[in-house]
Amino acid sequence: MKIGIVGASGKLGSLVLDHLLELVPAEDIVAMTRSVDKLAAYAERGVDVREADYDKPETLDAAFTGVEKLLIIPSMAMPAECREQFDNAVSAARAAGVKHLLTFTMSGTSPNNPFVMTAALVYAEMALFQSRLAWTIMRNGPYADEFVDWLPSIVEIGTVPYPTGTGKAGYVARDDIARAAAAILEGEGHEGKIHNLVGPEMLTTENLCSLVAEATGEDIIYVPAEPGDYVQVCMDEGVSEESASLLATMYISIAQRLMEVPLGTIERLTGTPPKSVRELLAARVAAG
Ligand SMILES: NC(=O)c1ccc[n+]([C@@H]2O[C@H](COP(=O)([O-])OP(=O)(O)OC[C@H]3O[C@@H](n4cnc5c(N)ncnc54)[C@H](OP(=O)(O)O)[C@@H]3O)[C@@H](O)[C@H]2O)c1
Repeated sequence: MKIGIVGASGKLGSLVLDHLLELVPAEDIVAMTRSVDKLAAYAERGVDVREADYDKPETLDAAFTGVEKLLIIPSMAMPAECREQFDNAVSAARAAGVKHLLTFTMSGTSPNNPFVMTAALVYAEMALFQSRLAWTIMRNGPYADEFVDWLPSIVEIGTVPYPTGTGKAGYVARDDIARAAAAILEGEGHEGKIHNLVGPEMLTTENLCSLVAEATGEDIIYVPAEPGDYVQVCMDEGVSEESASLLATMYISIAQRLMEVPLGTIERLTGTPPKSVRELLAARVAAG
């Protein structure tokens, strides 16, 4: 049985590929990218590397041939483009005889979520539900990696300016999501399931401030932030107003308590709990 991954060259996709290689033989994996050179190291290890571009359906027909389970990692395109990409991928998967489709969306994916990317995420889930193939959805918490990467700025401004009020989210490392996804791809019994892939605890932004203070020994004071405060901080760092405003809507969905989901799935699937934000911060501080 061949397991395919579209988006296997990305930050999340390459981690899924690495974990899957620990579970199944390389020749059972089809890793897909728009530029096969990016995955040359995996081809050398025996992975079947193929070209696949969501925007070029003719590449998908050949890429999906012989694949039984297919992980469609959404591109970072805006919702209108993403919808077309999902239509192309699902049509090609059906034509190629794929049996089981899997994808990643986000905690709290539902039509009432203010996060700008939600239109694409709801569409992706619906595309799988309506595919008439077996499907599995993995709803990820916000990436803890992106929070930890922001550590120098947080220390400089002395707070975490996420406009989340008292809402909580299950910040989760990409590596833990990938570990769980590999277990799902390799395992059985995940058809028709929605898995919440989140960190080991639900955290408020006030909790995040305390954790950064503990990890760094700096004064990190929680100051309730409005979306405009967050956008201004991002723009001061050179992020465009458009991107910062889009990201702010994700934190508004946390403020509306839409990302508070049950814990424990990653440990149940893999036998190992996901890393906490405390552990990830400590590792980053230790790395210097
Ligand atoms: N939970 C969160 O906090 C959070 C935050 C950010 C993103 N995300 C989601 O996480 C997912 C992956 O993120 P990431 O960090 O791994 O992103 P990334 O490193 O930018 O990877 C994106 C991947 O998409 C592929 N891709 C882009 N356009 C494509 C197209 N037209 N056809 C086929 N493949 C295409 C790229 O492959 P090639 O360039 O090799 O073709 C690449 O492998 C995305 O679905 C994103 O929406 C979640």
